[in-house]
Amino acid sequence: PNENGGSGRSRGLSSPPVIDSLQKIDVNPPKGTRDFPPEEMRLRTWLFHNFREVSQLFGFEEVDFPVLESEALFIRKAGEEIRDQLYCFEDRGNRRVALRPELTPSLARLVIQKGKSVSLPLKWFAVGQCWRYERMTRGRRREHYQWNLDIIGVSDVTAEAELISSIVTFFKRIGITASDVGFKVSSRKVLQEVLKCYSIPENLFGKVCVIIDKMEKIPIDEIKKELRSAELSGEAIEDLLQVLSVKSLAKLEEKFGYSEWIQFDASVVRGLAYYTGIVFEGFDREGKLRAICGGGRYDCLLSTFGGDDIPACGFGFGDAVIVELLKEKGLLPELSLQVGNIVCSLDHDLQGAAARVATILREKGQSVDLVLENKPLKWVFKRAARINAERLILVGSSEWQKGMVSVKILSSGEQYEINVDDLE
Ligand code: HAM
Repeated sequence: PNENGGSGRSRGLSSPPVIDSLQKIDVNPPKGTRDFPPEEMRLRTWLFHNFREVSQLFGFEEVDFPVLESEALFIRKAGEEIRDQLYCFEDRGNRRVALRPELTPSLARLVIQKGKSVSLPLKWFAVGQCWRYERMTRGRRREHYQWNLDIIGVSDVTAEAELISSIVTFFKRIGITASDVGFKVSSRKVLQEVLKCYSIPENLFGKVCVIIDKMEKIPIDEIKKELRSAELSGEAIEDLLQVLSVKSLAKLEEKFGYSEWIQFDASVVRGLAYYTGIVFEGFDREGKLRAICGGGRYDCLLSTFGGDDIPACGFGFGDAVIVELLKEKGLLPELSLQVGNIVCSLDHDLQGAAARVATILREKGQSVDLVLENKPLKWVFKRAARINAERLILVGSSEWQKGMVSVKILSSGEQYEINVDDLE
């Protein structure tokens, strides 16, 4: 056997070590990961609920992909940070696999797989866990959940506008205003990426910028002429000029009614190589936190996987920074456990009767915490308070013989007897 107690056969994974039963385990989750005890889970559920509701308000369909993907899906040559943060390993079948660091490559894979069977545009959303071996800071973890919205098949900037509009709607719903956060949208990067798409050498970038800079001063035909003399193809020039009209995004934003949320900032360069067009990120105006969300256009990603390119854009919105922001602003929702009813039998023989009452209520859609063991009433009241029950339903022998139970409204103290069948 090898040192791990395995057979010594050369496989992708060695057998786990035999754990000494007396050894105490570390009760903390692995560094950078989280448990979700009930209170944390309630917050997460609330957040995801808002992600989902907003996605649906904008007409997106939910999708998901495996957390474990083929490693090749995430290997790009651009020297991205995300590449070095991969949780990757060889599985027992000697396949190189990785925990997904993001959802976009999986989405691209599925779009290619679906091929012509889907009608465009696709509007897909997902909420999924992503893994990145990060250096940890506030709001950065080794696992996080990401809400993604992507529009596949629209080349017009209205798609980006719709995406940002959906994030604005989300912010508003959770009480975040334009004075708390904004979006930085980059334009310089856009130029650079267009040049790359047309294999124009990077050293031409400066020159092109100088020409473009004259846009306000000289006629458009002159600009085109100058660009042509800088050896840009007609197609490249048209694309470039079209992209430059991102300045008109400002107009679009007004149309969508959220111009106060947006600012152009050429310094914004998202870290992912596949963006080809507009890139944007959500930031907190106090500048205390990392980007709240980020996204952009990625019109050329599909072909890097051997598919036909389809214009696409989307964003990822993490679950960590937004919670930090809500804490900063005192906007964390108060979420408590809420069970409508607590049902308790007054003596042990009536346990079955109490269970029947619980069933009747549950069938009517009422949530019920059934007291499972015989407990003193003091204990029952304490529990009722902890679970924020509205009603306490007591099953006592004399009432039960008449098919009745006693109901106590816990907020008012009001008490009455009622036939079990009339319980609502
Ligand atoms: P990203 O900018 O790498 O983009 O991540 C998007 C968002 O995910 C970030 O703005 C942040 O909210 C969250 N996030 C990323 N890494 C971490 C981390 N280690 N801990 C906590 N939160 C994190 C993407 O991943 C793109 N795939 C988004 C996209 C979708 N672009 C187009 N469609």
